[in-house]
Amino acid sequence: MNVEEMKKAVAKEALKFIEDEMVVGLGTGSTTAYFIKYLGKLIMEGELEDVYGVPTSHQARLLALEVGIPVVSLDEVDAIDIAVDGADEVDPHMNLIKGRGAALTMEKIIEYRAGMFIVLVDESKLVEYLGQKMPVPIEVIPAAWRAIAEELEVFNATAELRMAVKKDGPVVTDNGNFILDAKFARIEDPLDLEIELNTIPGVVENGIFADIADIILVGTPEGVKRME
Ligand code: 5RP
Repeated sequence: MNVEEMKKAVAKEALKFIEDEMVVGLGTGSTTAYFIKYLGKLIMEGELEDVYGVPTSHQARLLALEVGIPVVSLDEVDAIDIAVDGADEVDPHMNLIKGRGAALTMEKIIEYRAGMFIVLVDESKLVEYLGQKMPVPIEVIPAAWRAIAEELEVFNATAELRMAVKKDGPVVTDNGNFILDAKFARIEDPLDLEIELNTIPGVVENGIFADIADIILVGTPEGVKRME
């Protein structure tokens, strides 16, 4: 199984958790995109009824509409039954780094609210400790980016402003903010760092998702494995 097949396998497995009349948080990224497409197919074929999606980004919203998922926003629902999303790193305690897609703020708001949060990854995302491979994305108020990058040196982190692929300007989030990618040597206490980073004035949210995932579906060449 190659990486794309692993992503498809975990996305299919996540469908088993979805029932009629559920409100589903729709994550952002290439793995969740498979889930959104499969979910839309089931809805269009009448296999699932009265299922609504709450997207975590413009990208997820447009895809959901394209594949036939009725979309509502967070303030239109009483509760979210399940949220499904990808991740960039997963440690053995199921703490996550997220935010390569720059949608971390709405992802965290929706996934924190969900009755169950299911994470879809291939095995390359599994790490011994957070920060092993990936920086921590931090969404910041644009005018504060340089001050916050300097402040992060106190945490022994080096931060870079995330630039658009064409390098013609910074990435701008759905909320109109910038992203700093902060490289930490080794994150010993993810929950502590997650809380601490959010106390810096100008930080909107950070990509550490400590102690929030309920189930992780991991795509491996041998099939889908489950952490919970
Ligand atoms: C977006 C995210 C994504 O879920 C994460 O980057 C994983 O993406 P992919 O499934 O494409 O590897 O956090 O903000």
